[in-house]
Amino acid sequence: MIIAVDGPAASGKGTVARALARHYKLPHLDTGLLYRAVAWGVLQEGHDPESETDALAACTFEDSLLDEPALKGEEIGRVASIVSAHPLVRATLIKRQRNFAQQPGGAVLDGRDIGTVIAPEADAKLFITATPQTRARRRHAEMQKAGSTMSYDRVLTDIRARDRRDMMREAAPLAQAADAYLLDTSYLSIDAAVQRAIALVDGRI
Ligand code: C5P
Repeated sequence: MIIAVDGPAASGKGTVARALARHYKLPHLDTGLLYRAVAWGVLQEGHDPESETDALAACTFEDSLLDEPALKGEEIGRVASIVSAHPLVRATLIKRQRNFAQQPGGAVLDGRDIGTVIAPEADAKLFITATPQTRARRRHAEMQKAGSTMSYDRVLTDIRARDRRDMMREAAPLAQAADAYLLDTSYLSIDAAVQRAIALVDGRI
């Protein structure tokens, strides 16, 4: 069974995907980490994320990099959304994601284009969303806990900019697959969102 979970930044898709993986005992891949690893490499080298050649050079990273907590930062996320718009970067990372999706027994993948590009054949597709304000509030609370002093307004502006970049790009833009279930987590607790996601997946298969 392949489960595809897509959605914008801070929608709760990662939390839902991890919970589904636990519930169905499936391996899980957070595909955003791959683009974050590329962003990390570009920043390390002092390269330009807008340059496709520079970003492409950062696509050969060790798997161990994906476990680095440093990849989770806001700046890396912002740069990841720039490098992920390059078609050659996406093409380079596709194989690894498809292999993960097609392993025997199935998998859960979360990202922006899992239901549309990486695994259009997925058995269940969820598109997780929430209002920009809700997502900014969640992200802001997380960041405050981690010691950041960034204002809520700045977080909201950044989330809107990331949404725009992810939705407007030519290569595999963030979009709900025609056969995906829409799950709006704006007014749901984490528990309620997870229960709803499991109910949707159970109903489908
Ligand atoms: O989900 P996360 O915030 O970690 O993703 C970072 C960035 O990587 C996103 O803003 C998006 O531009 C890009 N991404 C993507 N396709 C995916 C996963 C992430 O383009 N499947």
